[in-house]
Amino acid sequence: MCGIVGATAERSVSGILLEGLRRLEYRGYDSAGMAVWDGELIHRLRREGKVQALADALDGQPLTGSAGIAHTRWATHGKPSEHNAHPHMSGTSVAVVHNGIIENFEELKSELMISGYNFSSQTDTEVIAHLLDQAIKSGADHLSAVKDTVASLDGAFALGVIHEDKPGELIAARQGSPLVIGVGIGENFIASDQLALLPVTDRFMFLEEGDIAHLTRDEITVWDINGEIVEREVTQYKHATSATEKGKFKHFMMKEIYEQPTVTLAAFQDRIQDALVNERAFGEQAAPIFDQVKQIQIIACGTSYHAGLIAKYWMEGLAGIPCHVEVASEYRYRPVVIQEGTLFISISQSGETADTLAALRDVKDQILASLTICNVPGSSLVRESDLCLMTNAGPEIGVASTKAFTTQLVCLLLTTLVIGRRFKITEALERQIVESMMLLPALIEESLQMDSDIELMSQAFAEKQHSLFLGRGTLYPIAMEGALKLKEISYIHAEAYPAGELKHGPLALVDKDMPVVTVAPRNDMLDKLKANLQEVSARGGELFVFAGCTQKVQSGEGVHVLGMPDMPEILEPIVYTIPLQLLSYHVAVLKGTDVDQPRNLAKSVTVE
Ligand code: M6R
Repeated sequence: MCGIVGATAERSVSGILLEGLRRLEYRGYDSAGMAVWDGELIHRLRREGKVQALADALDGQPLTGSAGIAHTRWATHGKPSEHNAHPHMSGTSVAVVHNGIIENFEELKSELMISGYNFSSQTDTEVIAHLLDQAIKSGADHLSAVKDTVASLDGAFALGVIHEDKPGELIAARQGSPLVIGVGIGENFIASDQLALLPVTDRFMFLEEGDIAHLTRDEITVWDINGEIVEREVTQYKHATSATEKGKFKHFMMKEIYEQPTVTLAAFQDRIQDALVNERAFGEQAAPIFDQVKQIQIIACGTSYHAGLIAKYWMEGLAGIPCHVEVASEYRYRPVVIQEGTLFISISQSGETADTLAALRDVKDQILASLTICNVPGSSLVRESDLCLMTNAGPEIGVASTKAFTTQLVCLLLTTLVIGRRFKITEALERQIVESMMLLPALIEESLQMDSDIELMSQAFAEKQHSLFLGRGTLYPIAMEGALKLKEISYIHAEAYPAGELKHGPLALVDKDMPVVTVAPRNDMLDKLKANLQEVSARGGELFVFAGCTQKVQSGEGVHVLGMPDMPEILEPIVYTIPLQLLSYHVAVLKGTDVDQPRNLAKSVTVE
């Protein structure tokens, strides 16, 4: 989604803004722009396409000045084009960057047109620039103009504003879309996320919903939703800056796949005490809340939803706790029945996904409590949930989620154990599962060694239009996740089915042009799965089966078995994810797609 960067400093800010935009590229975008105040006037440059196109334009037409705002746009209203790119201006006086959607922009636009404003874009953002100009022309100072303008907007947004009459000043507003202030020494910044500002600061202030901030080089003032001046805590960024660099890898996605032995360990090691899960890891209030849980409602989107589906098998199968899982965009728009004692668990890498956040806000008054499993400290879901368990995966830059998913699974397993203690999970079972978890980093490491075999296998997919992914039990959501990864980055149509559904329809699709990927469980479903494989083979389908050696699935004509390490059944969904990530990666590389920033997608989906 759109990315915002802003800076006010003694030095010229355009380099800081450009680097900030590069670091926000991972969020997904289709045009980029910058506006810089040079002491007298605001100068603006915008380009359709990559940040590099803007950088090239800046080479020929440098923007120098000590305050500025910049933006990467992910089109919502109006196609990707230079005219629709941000910053948007009203005349020459005010420039605005915006992330989010203004729901009442058509109504506001009509009123502004009647007042004589001309529009040069199809965006919802341009109304903000004109509303600010109108307020200032009617006598408001520019801070009150922002406050009045924000009050007239419906929807979710984060804004950055500069004005030509306000030397070195930057105004920021947050309502529903993320925005963070970077606190420097004699310079201050704003951005959609911390990663954009790491070259210039490691101290951050997270704005709350409804906050408006005024920044100069030396001062930051924040007003809350009620117009009161408030102090917002300044926190230190903890991850090494190398976390945001590719290192020896060609793509962030591959780097993140290879980080999984380390990050899955980081997701559980400090949370285990005497071979049991320490429930204080969930927050001080966790124990009394968990004591009252009667059922679980999990809400998430995309990959995080797949993690939730696996948690359902664990919550119900291991712990005997009723557990429902639903995608946030469905759940929030239907009448729901929330039973007493419901723990609402949101799962999200970014902690800013608009639908997941809205679902939490909608049910807050009806649930026992909320827990979020999240990767971004200080994100909206973390701040608005009663409890949180951080996934500790470190920044995930590739749009395709990899390490965030496996660490979510680790956290969900920890959650199953602590709540499950109050239900069916005995201490002996908990110790046994914790002991199994200790094997996880080594098992992931071992499955990464399949990389070159999978690279070879990827050739069978690169020319195909369609593919089928099959799984059973906890490996069915893993098949869904494998299919999503392939779709996302290689643009091959991939469908996932529970293998038992094969003859209820999808078998009709199977022929030599439809590769079928299967993840084979080691449980009592194996024989049934083998029967499903026969059905595919008999119709000339080419099968790729990921199975351990004890599974006794044989390679043969049209059947390629890729050997997985043997492992405790509880770890299968986590470890079997790895080869499917590698497969999608290698297919995408063969096809030459943009692996880290696949077309049309955004990393953090902050609009619904
Ligand atoms: O940040 P979230 O986990 O809430 O994001 C949810 C989805 O948008 C996300 O998982 C998406 O499906 C990924 N690009 C999948 O790789």
